[in-house]
Amino acid sequence: MDSPHCTRSGLQFSPYRTEEDFGVVKASLNISQPIQEAFEQQWNADELGEPDDLDDFPLNSDDAVTSDLPPLDLPGPSTLPPDVIDKPAALQTHQDLLPSNKDARKKAYRRKKKQEKRERDRAKLEHSLPSPKFKVRAALSHKLAKVAHMRVRSNVVNLRAAQGAWIGVRESAGQGPRSLESLLAEGYDYKEWDGITPFVITDEEDRIFVIFAGRPQDPSYEDDRLAADAVLEDTHAKLQFGSNGCQVLPRPTNGCGKNRRGGFKTANVGISYGGGQKAPGNLCHTKHNQEVLRSFFQQPCIKRLATFANSAFAFFAPKLHEYYRRTLEPLWKRNPHFKHNVPTCILPAASINFGPKSVSYDHLDHNNLAGGLCSITAGGAFDPTKGGHIYLVNLRVIVEFPPGSTILIPSSVIRHGNIPIRAGETRTSFTQYAAGGLFRWVEYGFKTWHQLWETDRVHALAELENRPKKWKEFLELFSKLDELESDHHAVRSRCYPIK
Ligand SMILES: [Fe+2]
Repeated sequence: MDSPHCTRSGLQFSPYRTEEDFGVVKASLNISQPIQEAFEQQWNADELGEPDDLDDFPLNSDDAVTSDLPPLDLPGPSTLPPDVIDKPAALQTHQDLLPSNKDARKKAYRRKKKQEKRERDRAKLEHSLPSPKFKVRAALSHKLAKVAHMRVRSNVVNLRAAQGAWIGVRESAGQGPRSLESLLAEGYDYKEWDGITPFVITDEEDRIFVIFAGRPQDPSYEDDRLAADAVLEDTHAKLQFGSNGCQVLPRPTNGCGKNRRGGFKTANVGISYGGGQKAPGNLCHTKHNQEVLRSFFQQPCIKRLATFANSAFAFFAPKLHEYYRRTLEPLWKRNPHFKHNVPTCILPAASINFGPKSVSYDHLDHNNLAGGLCSITAGGAFDPTKGGHIYLVNLRVIVEFPPGSTILIPSSVIRHGNIPIRAGETRTSFTQYAAGGLFRWVEYGFKTWHQLWETDRVHALAELENRPKKWKEFLELFSKLDELESDHHAVRSRCYPIK
């Protein structure tokens, strides 16, 4: 239901209720290919840049045998029975293939120890590495100014954030799904989308604040997203839902339940702050669920979906991405025990919405950074022209959202939901986000507001004075269409020496 926006005092606030809010500008140049190249460039860097990633690939047969060997005192070749020495390779057993002299055994032992160290280092890397730096190739960034876009006759400045702009304003979620017909009857604008070609929504000052990133055109990505569907299903089957104090939420029954976003199961995973936590930390899970979710994020197909969203974020909002990195990096460094879902992604938490019909009622994710972005990747099997669309209430727009595609929205200030899918269809979604409380915690000097007030009154008063300006400061971090290239250059030149 499209309820009026109210402040806590009851005053109504509804800046987007004018007719003819939209003017659509279509660019004729198809820039999807270079942009996808850039996304994939980052993906490749993520996948291939770390030598430790090689450990993910299967060992060749020699390594597979020797690397598992204990330093045993085994008989040398001269003592082996002739029937073993002469046995054809195909018939040789594990024992037959053991190294046959002292040097080989030492070599095998050293290799094993080396591998163990690599595994330890990799585990450490997966859990404690700060989010990565991101670089867009200069040759591609100049094409960004011609990205297809839809300009709305509204200004992001008018969206509502909580005081201080760390998070959005709490509003109750809708009570049920809304049909395509009812939204069209209310005057929503409808946009078709192939789910591949990127386009962005800009405000009247040309700020890019909603990103329809699409997906890589590489056929292997389609394979990975189908594999991700299977992994999601498998994870769904293995998780124990509804454990006390755990962020794996069961499907609400009879309208009651913890998942206010809709009638589907979900798992929230990663590093967050808010909702009663005394300090930033990993979201809580039972030991069993923790293991299942750890395995989920180790799947290459999931990593690929996650890193694609990260790349799109950095590509279309370079200053904001850099703000996330610079602000959160000190937090990760101070807390090496934090477990990152996908360490190469800037967004530290994720929700896995299992479906089989993950259709959100319209809602705000008000705990996310108000001036930030969260990514949503749709999965499942459904006709995107009939259902699964995303609608953005503040902007009064409905966009087709095919499975396998990724979008980024400021989810704590733009109310959003999905159109129901049809009977027999399935829809899942994978979202990544960052709680606004994390950024507030860092900027308060790793303290709560109360602690800051008690221990550093000068800093606290400065924060108080700055609160009214904070929202506009955040909005400065959204890039404008004609400034994307220079923003990329600025971020690149501040963080990396230009070679
Ligand atoms: Fe949401």
